[in-house]
Parts: sequence; structure tokens; C-alpha cells
Amino acid sequence: MRIATKVGFTRPGPNRWVAVGRPEYLRQQTELSLRKLRVDSLDLLQLHRIDSKVDAGEQFATLRDLQQEGKVKALGLSEVTVDQLKEAEKYFTVSTVQNRYNLTDRTSEDVLNYATENGIGFIPWAPISAGELALPGGPVDEAARRLNASASQVALAWLLRRSPVMMPIPGTGSIGHLEDNMGALGIALDDATYAQLESAR
Ligand SMILES: NC(=O)c1ccc[n+]([C@@H]2O[C@H](COP(=O)([O-])OP(=O)(O)OC[C@H]3O[C@@H](n4cnc5c(N)ncnc54)[C@H](OP(=O)(O)O)[C@@H]3O)[C@@H](O)[C@H]2O)c1
Repeated sequence: MRIATKVGFTRPGPNRWVAVGRPEYLRQQTELSLRKLRVDSLDLLQLHRIDSKVDAGEQFATLRDLQQEGKVKALGLSEVTVDQLKEAEKYFTVSTVQNRYNLTDRTSEDVLNYATENGIGFIPWAPISAGELALPGGPVDEAARRLNASASQVALAWLLRRSPVMMPIPGTGSIGHLEDNMGALGIALDDATYAQLESAR
């Protein structure tokens, strides 16, 4: 088991997220994570957002230093472009990228392709969002019926077939949904179904 966490965001109120990428704050959040998780080193530390108010290089250098000090084993990014990813690679090995990606939101297709070509783990958030595609008669609903699976399983199975570096993180507070989501590992999408989902938007 590996534990992943993030730094670089504050939450000043409900539904409010403000990026803070000052080196001393990234360092403080890392130290607090080490203490709360009771570990000597974090398995994966991700920069939640690049703070546009702070020099990106300064933020990347802080992460690199934390890794060199042994406080972090692997480093990742979140919601970045390919150019930002390449810039970060000048400072450290980027192990993972966590961008929003699912059947209905393929905005990060270029980042996924770059990650796939370079063996970087791609962690899509909101992975089971299928929107109207999951409505009765839609491609996700049809695939689910044919495969005797749930719509969430179809969405996850499509992601898992899309790239070998894919690591979806569906959130849930329900054991039933957790089991349902894990069941996606046993769903093999045939070529025709995969192609149908691939072309659906
Ligand atoms: N990098 C970023 O900027 C970013 C942004 C947002 C989230 N994230 C990450 O994404 C992860 C998950 O986020 P999230 O908790 O907001 O979750 P989410 O994956 O966006 O959505 C979870 C929702 O889907 C439902 N759900 C899950 N499995 C289901 C199933 N099999 N059938 C039907 N409904 C299902 C959940 O309800 P139940 O609880 O009832 O199952 C919940 O309402 C977290 O690690 C979070 O940090 C990252």
C-alpha cells in the first residue's frame, strides 16, 4: 500500500480553495503530513496547484529539496499542462500527474498522452463522471446492460483500458460503491464497446 497526499492549497471556507505555493508553506504542510500520518517519509507528495502568485521554479525546487532531504519518496503534480510538466521535470522526476479526466471531460488528453509515452502515472480525478452518456439508452448505459455491469464500472473500465499508466481515484463514503468500483478491474471491454465509448462525448 502507498499513501499519497498533496500540498499547495488552503481551504479558507466551504467550497473555497486558494493556492499557496510559498516554499515555507509547502514545507510546513509536508511536515504536518509526516506528523499526522506518523511516517518518516511520504510515499507520494503531489503539488495540488501551481500557485500563479509564486515563481513556479521556486515551488518545484522546494519539492525537489524535500525529496532530497528524504521527507518524500516520489513527487507528483496536479492540474498541469504538458509545458508545466516538462518545466517541473527540470527539477525532479515527475512520478504522477493528477488531472480531471473522464468520459465527458478529455481536456487533459495531451497530458495523458505525454504521461503514457513517458511512463508517468496518470491519476484522473472525477473518473466516474459520465453525465448524459449514462442516461438510459446512452452509450454507457448500453454498455453496462450488455456487460452486466454498473455505469461506474464501465466508466472505470474504459479508463483502465485507455492507458497502462491510468490510476483512477473514485471517491466514496460507501462500502457498496467501493466494491462496485473495484469490480471494474474484472470488466473486460471488447474492442467495439471500447471504440464506441472512445468516440462518445
Ligand atoms: N487534484 C484535484 O484538483 C482534485 C479535485 C477533486 C478531487 N480530487 C481527488 O479525487 C478523489 C476523489 O474525490 P471525491 O471524493 O470528490 O470524489 P469523486 O470521484 O469526484 O466523486 C465521488 C462521488 O461519486 C459517488 N460514487 C462513487 N462511486 C460510486 C458508484 N460506484 N456508484 C454511484 N456513485 C458513486 C460518491 O457517492 P458515495 O459517497 O455515495 O459513493 C460521490 O458522490 C480524492 O482523492 C480527491 O482528493 C482531486
